[in-house]
Amino acid sequence: MDSFLIKGGVPLHGDVQISGAKNAVLPLMAATLLTSGECVIRRVPNLTDVRFMGQILESLGCEVKWDGDCVRVRAAKLKPVGDYELIRKMRGSVCIMGPLLGRTRKATVSLPGGCIIGARPIDLHLKGFEALGAKITIEGGDVKAVAKNLVGTSIFLGGRAGPTVLGTANVMMAATLADGITVIDSAACEPEVIDLAKFLNAMGARISGAGSPTITITGVKELHGAEHEVIPDRIEAATYAIAAAATNGEVTLKGIRTDHLHAVLDKLREAGVKLDRVGPDLKVSRGRKLKPVDITTQPYAGFPTDAQAQMMALMCLTPGISIITERIFEARFMHVSELARLGAEISIEGPSAIVKGGRPLSGAPVMASDLRASAALVIAGLAAKGTTQVNRVYHLDRGYERMELKLNALGAKIERTKGE
Ligand code: EPU
Repeated sequence: MDSFLIKGGVPLHGDVQISGAKNAVLPLMAATLLTSGECVIRRVPNLTDVRFMGQILESLGCEVKWDGDCVRVRAAKLKPVGDYELIRKMRGSVCIMGPLLGRTRKATVSLPGGCIIGARPIDLHLKGFEALGAKITIEGGDVKAVAKNLVGTSIFLGGRAGPTVLGTANVMMAATLADGITVIDSAACEPEVIDLAKFLNAMGARISGAGSPTITITGVKELHGAEHEVIPDRIEAATYAIAAAATNGEVTLKGIRTDHLHAVLDKLREAGVKLDRVGPDLKVSRGRKLKPVDITTQPYAGFPTDAQAQMMALMCLTPGISIITERIFEARFMHVSELARLGAEISIEGPSAIVKGGRPLSGAPVMASDLRASAALVIAGLAAKGTTQVNRVYHLDRGYERMELKLNALGAKIERTKGE
């Protein structure tokens, strides 16, 4: 398993191009299952999760062709069963269920278990499919949905922690080919849901309200091929903005959508980080003095859970006390004990982490546990004195395109060491 050796203490300087969004592209690729026509998706980031999704589509009978950051998918004829070993490996693969159910009236995926960031149930996805008329059974660890017909209806998708992003995507995709009108209430409002609705509408679907808590889908008989460009990755952008502030550098984020980043930019500004628009780009630099800020993660447009760990790394470097409360995933504090190995002082009280910031961090070997926790460790390592070894960086390869190359182009000193 590869590791990063990070020589810390170097301020980041320069421009960084933000890639297409991982969490948008996975459901977009799944949506290609809804039609036999050719779909073309551009600005696709080269990530292990994305390549995995390509393999899953192939195992379902799709023709998948890669050309740089563009993928062409033709799902002319679908096989009744895919490669479940592959499907099992990636939680995001659950979003093939909605399109398979919509197109073929049946779908089987392996029931995703919990993961390192907490229990990851799919009860809301299944509730939506059942409301559309599917029968759900669980057999040998797989969940099967079968429907004679799908009929539009009114579905409330709010859960314990608010709306569900992939659940909304899944039910929306299934409903595009249902009879009649489906209304999803308490739908997720994330930009990735809007991006998916845009692509589906380009394929001939009739969806309105995406980006609001109420989405209306008027079923159509069939969808056709379409082209689409993926939105920029707001979490990658947030990660580089935080890294710039953490290293006392000056980095210009290129190709971003600041309108997708309001909550993060607001907190960075409150923390004393300087943000300057340069045409469509955003220049991020540390202001004179960082200030501690309290953060609570929320569904969009609130502060994203996917940027919580990175922000905690910044708060470790900021003199004073900040309270970071995680409201989306109950166990998303795996980075806390690893940040402590670098010298951070953090205690956990229920859903909150109390960070006593301002102690100098010093390099140490640390273990990456999930994608965003790993990003937090990289940020802390970049700011720490001495060398930090981040082990198991395959987590980062799942969600950050060429991370060490992008950071090294900004002046960082990161070496990837090959493991077995
Ligand atoms: N939930 C339920 N029942 C469900 C589905 C979700 O109770 O049927 C709960 C979850 O346990 C959680 C909350 O609802 O407490 C929100 O989960 P959601 O379904 O929105 O998460 P997701 O769609 O599975 C996507 C991203 C995550 C991101 C979350 C929240 C993808 C592939 N994944 O997951 O991304 O954290 O939305 O924004 O889009 C990451 O990129 O690092 C990552 C984990």
